[in-house]
This record gives sequence, C-alpha cells and structure tokens, in this order.
Amino acid sequence: MFFSLLVFYLILLSTLVVAQSLSPTGTFPILVNSTSTLTLAVAPACGSLDSVNFTEVNAGISLSAIRTIVTFGDSWTSTGANGTVPLPPILHPPLPSAGARNSENRRATNGFMWSERLAADLNAKLLDYSWGGAIIDNFAYNTTSPLNKTGVPRSDFVAQAGLFFLQGQFLDPLVPSQTLYTVAFGINDDGQFKIAGGDIDLAYNTYVTKLGELQERGARNILIHGMYTSHPETDELQSRVFAYLTASRATNGTNVAFVNLERLFSTIAAEPAAFGYTGNATCLVSANTIVGGCADPDHSVFYIPGHPSMMTHGLINEYTQAAVAECVEA
Ligand SMILES: *[C@@H]1O[C@H](CO)[C@@H](O)[C@H](O)[C@H]1NC(C)=O
Ligand SMILES: *[C@@H]1O[C@H](CO)[C@@H](O)[C@H](O)[C@H]1NC(C)=O
Ligand SMILES: *[C@@H]1O[C@H](CO)[C@@H](O)[C@H](O)[C@H]1NC(C)=O
Ligand SMILES: *[C@@H]1O[C@H](CO)[C@@H](O)[C@H](O)[C@H]1NC(C)=O
Ligand SMILES: *[C@@H]1O[C@H](CO)[C@@H](O)[C@H](O)[C@H]1NC(C)=O
Ligand SMILES: *[C@@H]1O[C@H](CO)[C@@H](O)[C@H](O)[C@H]1NC(C)=O
Ligand SMILES: *[C@@H]1O[C@H](CO)[C@@H](O)[C@H](O)[C@H]1NC(C)=O
Repeated sequence: MFFSLLVFYLILLSTLVVAQSLSPTGTFPILVNSTSTLTLAVAPACGSLDSVNFTEVNAGISLSAIRTIVTFGDSWTSTGANGTVPLPPILHPPLPSAGARNSENRRATNGFMWSERLAADLNAKLLDYSWGGAIIDNFAYNTTSPLNKTGVPRSDFVAQAGLFFLQGQFLDPLVPSQTLYTVAFGINDDGQFKIAGGDIDLAYNTYVTKLGELQERGARNILIHGMYTSHPETDELQSRVFAYLTASRATNGTNVAFVNLERLFSTIAAEPAAFGYTGNATCLVSANTIVGGCADPDHSVFYIPGHPSMMTHGLINEYTQAAVAECVEA
C-alpha cells in the first residue's frame, strides 16, 4: 500500500517537476502552481497592538527568515496532510475536492492552499496539522464533547497541538527564529455554538493555553488569521486572543501578527470584478458533486460552498504577506 502510493507519488512528482510554472521548494517536495488569474485589489487596514479589538498588525515577524511553517486550523488551511509532510494535491475528478471527498486526506478546494503558496514563496517547509471541521476545543460546545450531540468525530486545536508536540521535533529542527506558527480557528466554533450553545470562555482559555504551550516549546513567531466573516461571539473571542498576543509580545518578546481575512472577503464581496472575479461567486452547488458546477473555477471566489477556490487561496497568501509587510508595528 505504502509502496504503491510512493510510486504513484514519484510518478506525479516527475510529471509535475518539468512543468515550468511549478516551483520546487528547496529539498522539500512541495510543488506549487503559483499562477494567479486574479489581482489583490485591497490593502490591509493596519492598526496597532494597543487596539481594544483585533486589528491588522505585525510586531516583529520577518517572513524572509522563515524556513518552516507549522499550521493549525480547519478546512480553510488543511492540505489533508494532518501532521505528515504535505503532498501535492491528488485530484480525483469528478470528485469535488482535490484530494477527494471520500478520502481522509481531502482538501476543500480545487488545488493548492494559501499555506502551500506561502511556503513556496518563502522556500519553506510546510508542516500542516489543520483538519477540516476543526474547532478550538471539543469540550466547549454542546454539539461536541462530552455531550457530543452531533456524534461526529471532530479535530480541535488541542488534538492538533498534541500531535505536533509529539512528532514535530522529528520532522524539522524547528529553529525558533526560522519557524512561523499560523493559527486559524473560529468558523466551526461559530457553527457549533449556533447549533446548541456552549462555553466560549472555555474555547478562549484553550486557545491561549495552546498559544502558551507553543511558546513554552520555542515558538517565537505566531501569526493568527481572523475569520473571513464577522459573528458576535467569535469577534469577541478574536479580540480577546488579540489582547493575549499583545501580552505575549510584552512579556515574552514573541513576534506576533494578526491578519484579518474579513477585510479581504468583505472587499471581494463588495467589488468582485476589481479582483478579476466573473460569474458565480461559488463554483459548485454542493460539496458532493461537480454536476451543475461552473466551468471556470479560476474566476470564482469559492469552489465548494464556503470554501475558497484555489485562486482565492492565492489571494489569501498575497493578502497575508501584504499585512505582514505593511502593518509593521512601530
Ligand atoms: C497552473 O494554473 C493555471 C491556472 O489555473 C493553469 O492554467 C495552468 O495550466 C496550471 N499549470 C500547470 C502546469 O498545471
Ligand atoms: C470593539 O468591538 C465591539 C464588538 O465586538 C464593538 O461593540 C466596539 O465598539 C469595538 N470597540 C472599538 C474601540 O472599536
Ligand atoms: C463523538 O461521537 C462520535 C461517534 O460516536 C465519536 O467518534 C467521536 O469521537 C465523539 N467525539 C468526541 C469529541 O467525543
Ligand atoms: C488526523 O486524521 C485522522 C484520520 O486520518 C483523524 O482520526 C485524526 O483526528 C486527525 N488528527 C488531527 C489532530 O486532526
Ligand atoms: C448548551 O450551552 C448553553 C450555553 O450557551 C448552556 O446554557 C446549556 O445548558 C447547554 N445545553 C445543554 C443541553 O447542556
Ligand atoms: C509566555 O511564555 C510562557 C512559556 O514560556 C507561556 O507559558 C505564557 O503563557 C506566555 N505568556 C503570554 C502572555 O504569551
Ligand atoms: C451560476 O450557477 C447557476 C446554477 O447554480 C447556473 O445556472 C448559472 O448559469 C451560473 N452562472 C454563471 C455565470 O456561471
């Protein structure tokens, strides 16, 4: 099984490596098609770490120093790697997810994720722990644990960080000054909270406990993605996490950045044509089929409902780099 996968992967690799627009990253086998059919038609709205609410800021992160990226999050980040080294997406047409809806290693888009493009741009290794559907803490909501009303297995920041603490050190030297940790949760927390309520304070406590444990184990560069939509509970949660980052900077000297994807996505929603989008905002009618889907995902905001197209992932990468470059805290 492993052998045949390996052979398949090597064939895939040798096929892809000759393609001109694909850039291999160092000695690490991430191959990314970095072509963009869109234009980033929004600039970040820079604020300061003193802000009461979350705002876009970079206090100390230098992307040019980064050689390893460790990601935690949900389907907006997951390459389907789940703590293993990332592989290029394996497309299984006509299934709607690159990496396949019916596979554990699926991804919720039609190609490369923002994190893979970022890793390729920085020539960095990507260690991805994020997983579709993930929340901050399975014990925070009535739908998950211990009541577990929905009865679905679900990953959380606790499990993702736990797996990283176990195995990360064997996958990479994790040189503190050269390692960027990115964290992006909230969409599914909002979803679970709305279904049956829960304990947002517990989610907050877990969030910052994990950020503290990361720092204890050497994390010096932490970047947080704010959610792409605004919701009262999660907005407040983000502002509290933002305040924690301010404290991390002040007490530990940790380099921190906050990038607000809501600014990117609300601007796209207001002026899609400025970015180069045409036709339907969402390409597929459901996550389960490509039947009835659009012919041009390269100009759609979302691929499956609620999930960015590969090209939009390219914009998330560009926007993230713009915020880190432009919102430098004085
Ligand atoms: C890279 O992506 C662009 C845009 O989707 C596509 O036109 C091109 O064929 C891709 N290149 C390769 C080598 O896959
Ligand atoms: C902070 O956000 C809350 C909503 O979460 C809002 O009511 C408040 O006005 C904001 N404060 C500032 C200073 O922007
Ligand atoms: C919820 O229930 C499902 C089905 O029994 C189980 O697989 C899953 O592990 C449970 N999740 C939690 C967080 O307890
Ligand atoms: C990793 O994937 C497996 C399924 O392959 C899943 O059971 C597990 O919860 C995932 N781990 C994390 C930390 O998401
Ligand atoms: C679900 O969460 C709410 C908090 O929003 C709590 O008040 C309530 O007791 C919980 N419901 C159940 C059935 O435990
Ligand atoms: C500072 O770092 C320690 C670990 O070295 C961690 O436990 C603590 O939570 C951090 N404090 C903040 C505010 O980030
Ligand atoms: C948008 O999607 C609908 C079906 O979901 C389809 O009928 C329509 O032709 C699409 N429009 C464009 C411009 O792709």
